[in-house]
Amino acid sequence: VTARGTIAEIEGRSAAAKARAIAAAMRTTGVAIVRGPLDRPAYFAIASALGRIFHEASIYVDPTASYYVRSPGPVPFHTDHVRANVVSWLCEVPEAADNCYLDATRVFAELTAAQRTALQKVHAYCPYPRQSRLDPDRPVLTTPIVSAKPARFFWVPLARPADEIADLPTPCIHAPTTAGGRAAIAAFRARIEVPAEAADVRVRLAAGEAIFVDNNRFMHGRGALPPTSPRRLYRFWINTDGWASAERHHVREPALDARV
Ligand SMILES: [Fe+2]
Repeated sequence: VTARGTIAEIEGRSAAAKARAIAAAMRTTGVAIVRGPLDRPAYFAIASALGRIFHEASIYVDPTASYYVRSPGPVPFHTDHVRANVVSWLCEVPEAADNCYLDATRVFAELTAAQRTALQKVHAYCPYPRQSRLDPDRPVLTTPIVSAKPARFFWVPLARPADEIADLPTPCIHAPTTAGGRAAIAAFRARIEVPAEAADVRVRLAAGEAIFVDNNRFMHGRGALPPTSPRRLYRFWINTDGWASAERHHVREPALDARV
């Protein structure tokens, strides 16, 4: 834990009690830890009491992988799936490396007023796996990088203005932006580039410990890992607000289907 960030230590006898404490922590510190030790069934009980788990994944290092989630290389700060307002990881095999979290509301507040205004007009494409069972009619998701009330952030580090990366096979785009929007994106990016230096919260998880993070507020990232790292995390994407946030951001917003 760093001087800037605080992390809630979750107590509670039952899974439901722990989930209530996590929900409260998401509204305050935005980062919460359950010491456990938890196994997958105990972890599932807590997470499913917190909200709707709509994706699970085992996270491990693959030295041949180039994409962030399994690459041993450094992972820049980002948010996960736009519909997961809580992202959580259970540590199954630990690694002597920090997991880093950065408070986007703090970074945003440090921008100029003009940059903040411009950034709120920029939308980004969500490149994560589409949860089509719950979303059969919206195969392409776009969302504002930041919306003000309540403050929500979405940041994918690969995102570039659409006209700069039109030839890329994977569309990680910002919708076309003004010069002011581009300057605001650059200013935001410059403040978050190096996870180890920019982080508000750093944490080393032990086996059986689980961390829960407000994915609308905190970005996550890490430094490089050894290519042979045994690190293994089990991740849930959780929606705790009845999908209302998804409706607000996607159903009422025009999709970019025609362009991507
Ligand atoms: Fe991630």
